[in-house]
Formats: sequence, C-alpha cells, structure tokens
Amino acid sequence: MLIFESSKKLKKHLNTLKANGLTIGFVPTMGALHDGHLSLIKTSKRACKVTVCSIFVNPTQFNDKKDFEKYPNTIENDKKLLKKVGCDILFVPSVHEMYPNGFVNGTQVDFGFLAQTLEGEHRPGHFDGMAQIVYKLLKVVGPHQLFMGLKDYQQQLIVSELIRKKRLATRLVALDTKREKDGLAMSSRNVRLDKKSRKTAVEISKTLKWIKNKVARNKTKAVLTLTQQLGLERLNGFKAFEVEYLEIRNAKTLQAPASGREKLVVLIAAKIGGVRLIDNMLLN
Ligand code: PAF
Repeated sequence: MLIFESSKKLKKHLNTLKANGLTIGFVPTMGALHDGHLSLIKTSKRACKVTVCSIFVNPTQFNDKKDFEKYPNTIENDKKLLKKVGCDILFVPSVHEMYPNGFVNGTQVDFGFLAQTLEGEHRPGHFDGMAQIVYKLLKVVGPHQLFMGLKDYQQQLIVSELIRKKRLATRLVALDTKREKDGLAMSSRNVRLDKKSRKTAVEISKTLKWIKNKVARNKTKAVLTLTQQLGLERLNGFKAFEVEYLEIRNAKTLQAPASGREKLVVLIAAKIGGVRLIDNMLLN
C-alpha cells in the first residue's frame, strides 16, 4: 500500500494511473476503522482498479471541541487493516495540507433545508465543514466512484448534492449500514461506550426496527405521526438515553412526509454515556 501525505504528489500519481485507463475508487474516512469502513474498501476494490482511502480527522466538522479531542486515533492499526483488505493507496494529510489558508470555507454551496434539519439543527456548522473537506478530497483524488455508508444518511444526501452542484464526474455509491451481531450500527464512536451503555445502545436499532414493523402495512400520515411519537416514548423509556431526535422523513428531501406513498426513512440521534450515536432505517 502506498502512503501519501502530500495532495500534490497523490494527485500526480493518480493522474498517471487515470491516463493509463485505470478507474479510481475512493473511501474517505476519519480513521478508527471498523468493518463498516472495510466493507466500503472491499466494494471499491471489486468495482474499481485502484482504491484510495483517506484518513483525516477534519476539525471543521466538529461543532463540539470535546468530541474532536476525544475522537479515537488508531492510525497504526488502521494501516494494518487497510493492508489486509488490499487497499492500494492511503492518503493521510496534515491539517495544514488540507487547510493551507486556514479554515475558510471555499465550497460555497448552499444545501438549504437538507443541511439545516436534523444533524444540521443539532450540530451547527457540521455539514459546512464536512462538505468543505469532502470537496477538497474529491478535487485531489478525482475518483470515478465514491463509496460512503448509509449510516450517515444525511451526509450521503448532502455529498450527492455537492457532486451534482459542483458537476463532478464522480458517482456516489451509498452502501448499507454494517451492524454488530445485536444490531448496533458500527461506528468509530462505539469504542467510547462503557459496558452498560454499550448494552443499552442496541435499543436505538431495536426502536428503528420496531417502527419499521409498525408502519409496514399502513403508512398513512396519522399512523406515521403516532408511530413516531410512540417510538420516541419507547426510546425515552430507557433513562440512559438523551434523545436529540427521532423523526420519520421523506428519504430524498428529509422533509416531513406528505403522504405514505413516498420513500421514507426514520432517523435517530441520541446520546448515551456521553457518546453521541446516530442510526437510521429505510421504511420501504
Ligand atoms: O463520515 C466521515 O467519516 C466523515 O464525515 C468524512 C466523510 C470522512 C469527511 O470528513
């Protein structure tokens, strides 16, 4: 596996590969890799000739300084895992490399409601920082295909919009959330859960499934509203949770459902034991 720290050198290397007709797959990450990331790498490897993974803990997307400071750093283990699954190139830039002119936002894309609701409401500035770094990374790597997980549901919608608005020649492939055996969505933040919180954390995915079953046969507005309320009560019943939101939304626009015929997703964000977790499930 080749390791690059310089954007310029990586870009030059990839341009040569592209000139030779090789397709590039890209998996951007913040490290602390788990099976969810590795499955993105494996899918990229099957779809593209060359797979690039980036590890960069992006300061501009953390609205909470403590969350940034506590973000797990397991770089040596990450490198081992990437080699094991056959990742071709790892990009590990410094903060200065990605933000040579300081934290100025050069993306200038207005994502509107998509970035203002849910995570946007609870993590102000998060999506501006995320879109900013993804745009910078896409400009360096210029991948044919970009692989992201559906666990960050809102994020992948915004990245899809970024690609569309910036007219980038990259296809976004969003893959299903990888789950632990009991159903907990895999996340780099899970390592910060203590034993008790880890045990209760599974109630997030159980609540998602519970909601999916409840609305399986009837998605009228009234049923959706009632189920959302009951789902919230179910989760709040576990005192360890501090629920930020539990919402059934249109899967494309994230607006409140207008009717039951549209594609729907239920999304949850909740803190447990000081760790903020998110998860979601498509309802049809
Ligand atoms: O999902 C993540 O790990 C990050 O938001 C991303 C896409 C790597 C941008 O920093």
